[in-house]
Amino acid sequence: MDFDLTEEERLIRDTARDFAQKEIAPKAAEIDKNGRWPAEIVAQMSELGFMGVAIPEAYGGAGMTALAYAIAMEEVSAACASCGVIMSVNNSLFCDPVYKFGSAEQKRDVLTPTAQGKLIGCFGLTEPMSGSDAQTMATGATKTSDGWVLNGAKNWITNGPHADHIIVFVVTDRSGSKVKHTAFLVKKGTPGYTQNAPDHKLGIHGAHSCTVFFDNCHVPDSAVVGNVGEGFKVAMATLDGGRIGIASQALGIARAALEAATAYAKERKSFGVPLTSHQAIQFMLADMATELDAARLLTWRAAKMKDAGARHSSESAQAKLYASEASTRIAHKALQIFGGYGYSTEYPAERHYRDARITEIYEGTSEIQRIVIAANLLKA
Ligand code: CAA
Repeated sequence: MDFDLTEEERLIRDTARDFAQKEIAPKAAEIDKNGRWPAEIVAQMSELGFMGVAIPEAYGGAGMTALAYAIAMEEVSAACASCGVIMSVNNSLFCDPVYKFGSAEQKRDVLTPTAQGKLIGCFGLTEPMSGSDAQTMATGATKTSDGWVLNGAKNWITNGPHADHIIVFVVTDRSGSKVKHTAFLVKKGTPGYTQNAPDHKLGIHGAHSCTVFFDNCHVPDSAVVGNVGEGFKVAMATLDGGRIGIASQALGIARAALEAATAYAKERKSFGVPLTSHQAIQFMLADMATELDAARLLTWRAAKMKDAGARHSSESAQAKLYASEASTRIAHKALQIFGGYGYSTEYPAERHYRDARITEIYEGTSEIQRIVIAANLLKA
C-alpha cells in the first residue's frame, strides 16, 4: 500500500501540527485540570476546517480525504486528547452519517453548519444497560400521524452538553424475530429532549459527556436519517469510520508520551549518565517507537480503504484495537521513564496515561474490535 502523502495531506499535517503545538498544547494541562470545554479551540479548529475534514466543501467541509482526517486527528490529539475527541465525534460520528445517509434538507440545514463548526453534533447509541451489545437498546420510538415520539435515555454522549443536534439510534419495530432500529436527528431545544450534568471521568476532562433523555420527544418524519428500520446499519457503518478517528487519537496520545519521555530521558541523569545511556531505557523507547509506527500503519491502511470506498470494518477494528492498546502500553512506559515525576501533575505523562485508557473503551471496547475482526476472518 502506498503511503506517499498527497500535497494536500502534507499541508494538513503541517498546518495541524503547527496549530496544535502553538495554540493547543500550551493549554492542555489547564483544560485537563479545570475540566474546561475548550470553546476557543473549537472555534479555531472550525476556522481551519477541522470540524468536517472529509466532508465535501459543498456541505461545509474541507473536502479532504479520510487519511487527511486521520493525520489531523493525530496532531490535535498529540497536543490535547480532549480536543481530539471533540473533533472526532463531530467529524466521524455526526457529519459522516448525515453526509452518507441524510436527506438533502438535513445536509443543507444541519450537516453544512456542523461541518463548518458553527454547530456541534453528537452521537447517541450507548445506553445505561447496553454498551457493547448495542442492538439490545431500550430506547424506542412510536409512530404518530406526522412523525415519531421518542422515549428513553442514552449515556456517555461525548459533546452532548454542547451539541446542537444528536443523531440518535432507537428501536422502531419489535414485532419480528429481530428488532429494527431507526436513526433520527434531534435538535437541542426540542420539547422532551434534555440532558444531565457532565460526567466525571478519569481523563479527557475537557471533552464533556453526559446522559441525554427523551421523554415523549416528538420529532417530524423528516428527522429520520436513512431508511426506517435500517438504523443499526447506519450506526455500524458510522463506527467503521469513527474507529479510524479513535485510532488516530490513540496515536497522537502515544506520540506525545514517547516524545515527552525521550526528551526527559536525554536530560535526566542517573548513575552519572543520562537515562538514555541505559539499555533498559533504550529498549523501552525502541518498543514504544515500533508499536507507534505499527499502529500508524494499521490506521492509515484503514483510512486509505475508506478513501477507496472499500468495506473497512475489519481494518478499522484492527487499527483501533492495536492503536488503543499500544497507546496505553506506550503511555505506561513513558510514565515509568519519568519515575516519580511521571506520577506528578508537573509533567504530562500522567495525563497521557489517563487519556490513553479511554481509547480502549469507547467506540467499541477492545473485546468488541476482536469480535468484529474474528467475524470478518471466519465468514469467508
Ligand atoms: N456496516 C454495515 N452493516 C453492518 C456492519 C457494518 N460495519 N456491521 C454489522 N452490520 C449489519 C449486519 O450485516 C447485520 O445486518 P442483517 O441484520 O441484515 O444481517 C446487522 O448489522 C446486525 O449485525 P450483527 O448481527 O453483527 O450485530 P450484533 O448484534 O452481533 O452486534 C457488534 C455487532 C459488533 C457487537 C455491535 O453491537 C457493536 O459494534 N458493538 C459496540 C458498540 C459501540 O462501538 N459503541 C460505541 C458507542 S459510540 C462512542 O463510544 C462515542 C464516544 O463516546 C466517542
